[in-house]
Amino acid sequence: MFLSGVSWARACQFVRSSPQAFSPPQPSAPIATLATSPPLVHISYDVDATVIVREGAQTTMGKPRVYVTRMLPSQGLDLIHAFCDATVWEGELPPPHEVILRQTREADGLVSLLTDRVDGALMDACPRLRVVSNYAVGFDNIVIPDATARGIPVGHTPGVLTETTADFAFALLMAAARRIVEGADYVRAGQWKTWGPMLLMGSDIHHSTLGLVGLGRIGAEMAKRAQGFAMRVLYTDVVRREDLEASLGIEYAPLEDILARADFVSIHTPLTAETHHLMNRERFAQMKRGALIINTARGPIIDPDALLEALRSGHLGGAALDVTEPEPLPADHPLLTQPNCLVVPHIASASATTRGQMAEICARNLIAGLKGEALPAGLNPEALGTGRSALPRAW
Ligand SMILES: NC(=O)c1ccc[n+]([C@@H]2O[C@H](COP(=O)([O-])OP(=O)(O)OC[C@H]3O[C@@H](n4cnc5c(N)ncnc54)[C@H](O)[C@@H]3O)[C@@H](O)[C@H]2O)c1
Repeated sequence: MFLSGVSWARACQFVRSSPQAFSPPQPSAPIATLATSPPLVHISYDVDATVIVREGAQTTMGKPRVYVTRMLPSQGLDLIHAFCDATVWEGELPPPHEVILRQTREADGLVSLLTDRVDGALMDACPRLRVVSNYAVGFDNIVIPDATARGIPVGHTPGVLTETTADFAFALLMAAARRIVEGADYVRAGQWKTWGPMLLMGSDIHHSTLGLVGLGRIGAEMAKRAQGFAMRVLYTDVVRREDLEASLGIEYAPLEDILARADFVSIHTPLTAETHHLMNRERFAQMKRGALIINTARGPIIDPDALLEALRSGHLGGAALDVTEPEPLPADHPLLTQPNCLVVPHIASASATTRGQMAEICARNLIAGLKGEALPAGLNPEALGTGRSALPRAW
């Protein structure tokens, strides 16, 4: 029997595994050992306020069980806690796959990150799973056809990160073109002796040519930013966007043309079988000598060995990467020895506002899926009402 007259927030808390880290609401019984393998344990109180510690999510008070693979901003986590009996992985590093499997085995919903692979094998090992909500717009970590085949709706977080990511892509372009990070490192290293006529010369951004590979939400926002710098913008996409060509002042061209003409090439496609290593040796060789490449999409769209070769040979002028293959890029990776290769740790969408909005959409997708409703940002609406999502609810 569980408390019903006290608030859920008081009756059920998420605390660190340290017994010192929480104080239960008027516990009358000694607190049991809290040492468990995941960083977070789920604690409930029965009527005698006896602490019950469980490793995984448990059904309590008629709430669906969910597993959340990382701490999210409160805009999302608060919604999740209000509707669900949630277990949250609090580690900085992603939970190992076995932990996700174990924690999701009896869960009705899963909140995943781009570091968590969610495939048919995981879905089969978690027979109650009826919704997956990804905390990202990209969803290459989830095998969508596997989810659809099982009637599991999948959600993602498009839109709210579009401008934030485009801002960052443009910031990378500017930083690489004007060698801002190299300049800052030079000063910090005490190398700044005088104004130098040829010191750290870069490339002009204004009136240069930008080639966009992928003209979806983020690619189009990148084009808008380029307008302010009087850049000529070329784009390629599997879908020609004549509707945007006039309004954004952009020109469609095949990829080879873009590579041959652009001073800056910026990648904005999803990672798919077609875009994996899209930028390979042959494609780098087609790029204009001295051009720069910017990647804020997904690391494996660029073959890192081919990029290294193109930078080492001097054919490419530079690279600015928010995403890499592998991720994270090891500190001794040869790309990091190239002064004209700027690498940052996958933070293009990392503004406080955007990450909060992403968390809220992510929570709303999860809750809608649990309720059997259409996800606000669903990737496979055809899954709804079939398979798992049509089964009677267990809470
Ligand atoms: N670095 C980050 O933090 C971050 C943040 C947001 C998004 N992303 C990545 O950026 C990608 C794009 O996001 P979006 O919201 O603009 O997506 P989107 O779906 O709106 O746009 C992607 C575009 O790429 C096009 N495309 C697909 N395959 C292509 C191909 N083979 N060649 C050319 N064009 C192709 C599509 O037609 C579409 O227009 C996401 O898939 C995600 O992986 C990264």
